[in-house]
Amino acid sequence: MKKTVMYAAAFALTLGLGFTANAMADKGPADITLQATIDAAAKAKPAIFPHAKHQATLTCGECHHGKDAAGKQVAYTEGMKIEKCESCHNKAAGMANAKVTTFKDAAHVNCKGCHTEKKAGPTKCGECHK
Ligand code: HEC
Ligand code: HEC
Ligand code: HEC
Ligand code: HEC
Repeated sequence: MKKTVMYAAAFALTLGLGFTANAMADKGPADITLQATIDAAAKAKPAIFPHAKHQATLTCGECHHGKDAAGKQVAYTEGMKIEKCESCHNKAAGMANAKVTTFKDAAHVNCKGCHTEKKAGPTKCGECHK
């Protein structure tokens, strides 16, 4: 009986904290036009990105993560500082993983990769680069 009450209290606390953190988390813009600036191609190819629509069904960590002092990827945790992809994924930063050295490559792996895997979302150039 006592245990049940304790679990109930802990559950309520978890819910309460989760709710507060959610209400406070900066979710960023609802719609974003993505554009490489550091390693920009000769011909700019902005990409449309409905951010809020993705947030409705996916967790933040599907796309956002950090980097530790050794250059290794750090998994997303709620409240972590969210930086622009290109601040890490640019040629000068020298990613160990050659598949994601630029914003273009990191985006194509992340965006197209998921759309292909889930068989949902655009995979043709002109659908993202309107
Ligand atoms: C799922 C969406 C998506 C699809 C599909 C896609 N891209 Fe991209 N692409 C992006 C994003 C996001 C970026 C990084 C932001 C930017 O520069 O547009 C990018 C970047 C680029 C860049 C660098 C643009 C620049 O201004 O420096 C080129 C070039 C490019 N893509 C070409 C292509 C081609 C060619 C195809 C088809 C074979 C394609 N993309 C398909 C999302 C997509
Ligand atoms: C499907 C991928 C995806 C998901 C899921 C996602 N985001 Fe994003 N988010 C992005 C991309 C891409 C950008 C633009 C980054 C850039 O400009 O380099 C962005 C930008 C942001 C920004 C603005 C960063 C800046 O400095 O411009 C914030 C804040 C943010 N996201 C928070 C969140 C939170 C919180 C969640 C979960 C509730 C979330 N995002 C889920 C892909 C995603
Ligand atoms: C604070 C630095 C940092 C930021 C910001 C960042 N990344 Fe990364 N990312 C990394 C590191 C480090 C790795 C590991 C690469 C390696 O091992 O060389 C990585 C790996 C990746 C990979 C390949 C592995 C995997 O998880 O699939 C993709 C794709 C990727 N990032 C996409 C993105 C996108 C999209 C954004 C913006 C929404 C972003 N990254 C923002 C540092 C960052
Ligand atoms: C982890 C999975 C995942 C990632 C990562 C992801 N998407 Fe998507 N995206 C989806 C799914 C699933 C849909 C289909 C949603 C629907 O139709 O309701 C979608 C739909 C879209 C659409 C069409 C929206 C519409 O209203 O029809 C665009 C544009 C898009 N994604 C762009 C991007 C770009 C650009 C990125 C990378 C910055 C990205 N996505 C990353 C899963 C993902």
